[in-house]
Amino acid sequence: MSELLSEYRELVNRELDRRLPAASGDQVPGRIGEAMRYSVLGGGKRVRPIMVLSACRACGADPERALSGACAVELIHAYSLVHDDLPAMDDDAMRRGKPSCHKAFGEANAILVGDALLTLAFDFLATPPESLFQLRAVSELARLAGWWGLVGGQVLDLELGATEAVHSFDELERIHRGKTAALFEASAVIGALLAEADDAVVEKVRRYGIAMGLAFQHIDDALDQEHRQYADQAVERSRHLLADSRAVAEGFGDEGCGLVELVTLLEERLEQATG
Ligand code: IPE
Ligand code: IPE
Ligand code: MG
Ligand code: MG
Repeated sequence: MSELLSEYRELVNRELDRRLPAASGDQVPGRIGEAMRYSVLGGGKRVRPIMVLSACRACGADPERALSGACAVELIHAYSLVHDDLPAMDDDAMRRGKPSCHKAFGEANAILVGDALLTLAFDFLATPPESLFQLRAVSELARLAGWWGLVGGQVLDLELGATEAVHSFDELERIHRGKTAALFEASAVIGALLAEADDAVVEKVRRYGIAMGLAFQHIDDALDQEHRQYADQAVERSRHLLADSRAVAEGFGDEGCGLVELVTLLEERLEQATG
């Protein structure tokens, strides 16, 4: 990861560490603080929050203006992983190289950790209340994390996700659009909104976020050797999506450097996947 992106990642890690509840103490009920910190800190590439900060910079503002928004999307991502690993969903025992949340803290706590991270994300994004742009960011995150976006994608993934049940590449991409690209879209758009960008710029950044999210999931499938019957189409589609993302990012000139470096990061992952 480039120096700039690593710097953004550390900024996000420090802010998450500072603002998550303490692991224990009089104010913290039971093990919720410990389990929330366990699920968010100490692992994760932080691609989505880095995109928030990069989009904010591309739109001409200090990336630190979008730091709460960056942490908010990472909290939503972390919640989605905690719930995704539950026995009722993917039933995965390991996450980020350690026991998944329900293995470490029990299923009931894992459900509550997810609930707590999801709601804390909106607290981060809305506090302190400052502008109409911030309210629009809250609305985008609510829609894109919800039934229309991430949750909807998880519904389709559970219904159709078994490799043999996906009937076409388009159907596969419909799942990716919800479960992964919606939160990437939110990340890019939130960065632009917190920079108080014009509507036309927000829509340009949105296109970048969606393309990057779709490419990210295709590349992740290629690395994990999932949906192998669509492997060739997925590689070709990823190249196209990354070229489109690069063109949008380069359109921002020098200030688009973070967005460009994220494209480079995914290009490197794609090369890794195709050997
Ligand atoms: C994992 O996302 C789930 C997918 C959408 C593929 P990441 O690959 O971003 O996971 P972390 O945050 O780095 O662990
Ligand atoms: C993770 O998706 C959850 C979301 C994207 C919402 P997957 O089930 O495809 O990813 P891994 O393999 O558990 O990381
Ligand atoms: Mg899953
Ligand atoms: Mg899973």
